[in-house]
Amino acid sequence: MSSEVHHHLDTLLHEDRLFPPSASFRQQANVNDPSVYERADQDPEAYWAEQARQLDWFEPFTQVLQWDPPHAQWFLGGKLNAAYNAVDRHRQGPRRHKVAIFWEGEPGDVRTLTYEQLGREVDRTAHMLRHLGVRKGDRVTIYLPMIPELVFSILACAKIGAIHSVVFGGFSANALRERILDADSKLLITADAGWRRGGLIPLKANADEAVQGTPVEKVLVVRRVGDAAQAAWHADRDVDWHELAAKMPKTPVPAEPMDAEDVLFLLYTSGTTGKPKGIVHTTGGYLVGANTSMRTVFDLKDSDVYWSSADIGWITGHTYVVYGPLSAGVTMLMYEGAPDWPHRGRFWELIEKYGVTIFYTAPTLIRTFMKWGPQYPQQYDLSTLRLLGTVGEPINPEAWMWFHEHIGHGQAPIVDTWWQTETGCAMIAPLPGLVATKPGSATRPVPGIAAAVVDEDGHPVQPGSGGYLVLTRPWPSMLRTIWGDDERFRKTYFGKFPGIYLPGDGARVDEDGYYWILGRIDDVINVSGHRIGTMEVESALVGHPAVAEAAVIGRAHEVKGQAITAFVTLKEGVQGDEALVAELKQHVVNEIGALARPEEVIFTAELPKTRSAKIMRRLLRDIAEGRVLGDTTTLADPSVIEELKRLYKDSE
Ligand code: WT7
Repeated sequence: MSSEVHHHLDTLLHEDRLFPPSASFRQQANVNDPSVYERADQDPEAYWAEQARQLDWFEPFTQVLQWDPPHAQWFLGGKLNAAYNAVDRHRQGPRRHKVAIFWEGEPGDVRTLTYEQLGREVDRTAHMLRHLGVRKGDRVTIYLPMIPELVFSILACAKIGAIHSVVFGGFSANALRERILDADSKLLITADAGWRRGGLIPLKANADEAVQGTPVEKVLVVRRVGDAAQAAWHADRDVDWHELAAKMPKTPVPAEPMDAEDVLFLLYTSGTTGKPKGIVHTTGGYLVGANTSMRTVFDLKDSDVYWSSADIGWITGHTYVVYGPLSAGVTMLMYEGAPDWPHRGRFWELIEKYGVTIFYTAPTLIRTFMKWGPQYPQQYDLSTLRLLGTVGEPINPEAWMWFHEHIGHGQAPIVDTWWQTETGCAMIAPLPGLVATKPGSATRPVPGIAAAVVDEDGHPVQPGSGGYLVLTRPWPSMLRTIWGDDERFRKTYFGKFPGIYLPGDGARVDEDGYYWILGRIDDVINVSGHRIGTMEVESALVGHPAVAEAAVIGRAHEVKGQAITAFVTLKEGVQGDEALVAELKQHVVNEIGALARPEEVIFTAELPKTRSAKIMRRLLRDIAEGRVLGDTTTLADPSVIEELKRLYKDSE
């Protein structure tokens, strides 16, 4: 384990502050009987079956679990529909005219949708999908900003049994094309453009580039921006959302009864190779996971106004903006824009305006707010907040304390939720009425989830020692496979310890059984809570004509958690200068998206490699973090690398 991880461990080990829930929070909590942990542990299938019954099933399941490692099936024989559970079931009871979504656009436009109104929009969208030839099992790629049509599109797919594949709007045309091709989608839903800090994200232009040479036949285009977008129009292929919607019948679309194990969606995420993985989630298990954690970890009540600031383009948005909150019948806030647009108090203004009671966000944002200073939240009334949550990366105790004091007024419990695209919902997180929190720890596995920290041979390590985090039992919302590549699924997640799920994170458990996540142990970088494979960035870089070889690492970054540093050797005769640095950064943005832009590009005459030709990433990290060589932008002299390699020989 590298030195920075050890340093991190030392600081973590000295954390002994403990924050139990207040008596009043505990009393009102949905879960406040500690025996739930033991009950779920003794009979996880009974626990999950009990949770599953909170959903509406068209046909009840007859078997809870079929586990043929690494393949799990949950709720066999059961039939249900995710959109029906998220919307239609609420249209029939007292929630019919309850607000489902308060939506705020970046320019300040607003829209309020009750469950009934949301249901009508979903039906209208489902009619459009049918009209455009989408059938059960077809894949639909969705590339939209955070606008209500994104929710309509997702739920309309679910309603007719089509498989959605949402691609985050910050991804480039290339990244979008790769995902369309892998999913083999015939329909793409996009917008003319999206707003970002007053500027435009050219979604339609990217889409036009992306669909060339793909099976996409129709592109359904939401007019978000209007004339300003200046988007090209291909009359034979492009369909105007609003024009088509106006022509659709106003009748309900019956919810397709789906097998519990029918695929609900694909969501692509980075791994250790260049090609992103299409993570496959199925209808029953995923929805049970999303819904359960809403009620237990987020302690959701009918009276709550819930806000997750995540973009729906990521799993957090799928589970905790769409399926979790809506299946639980909550009122939620959905916000299109940036936290500092038009001003740095925007988030707090929104919390005051809507009386938000539960707020879920990312450590990188909290660190940004910290940098801006407490004067921004102090201008607003945040007293409605009763529960806070974080996700995406380990939260440093300073950021935790700041969140606790300045946003949670020293009262609101913080649920630090560890999970992944693959796990579908929160796996390690406190139940806020039961578990005392420690700043920086995601605490313990939620009921029904079995975790451990093990050594190289799969044996649990002593409390206090680091090791591989594993999940030792199947759970309903686990990924079922990687789309089109079951072998990669087996190898990646079950290859090291047969029958045991390997998330790819290092962790340690302390004397009290609390988990401390130490970060990725594979070649995946976590930038602002988003996963980026080093190989993806490396392949983008070597695709540039000037580049001979590239090695990419994540280095510690004050706000982003990790930032990308690229070490690049150039082709013979090419001169590395500032202009080329800028060009290479932009090249990565074009190939992948802005989230993968290297913070720095360092030219080097060669890359340090071991005798078996493995790149010495730890050495590169130490260089990037200034532990050797100090402030370096170029490592032109090969002898420098040789010298460093000698230094590292024993330790690598
Ligand atoms: C990776 C998963 C799941 C939502 C967002 C990211 C890291 C996530 C935490 C946390 C420490 C965390 C892990 C994990 N991570 N949440 N609370 N504490 N680390 O989803 O893109 O699939 O990334 O994010 O390294 O493996 P993702």
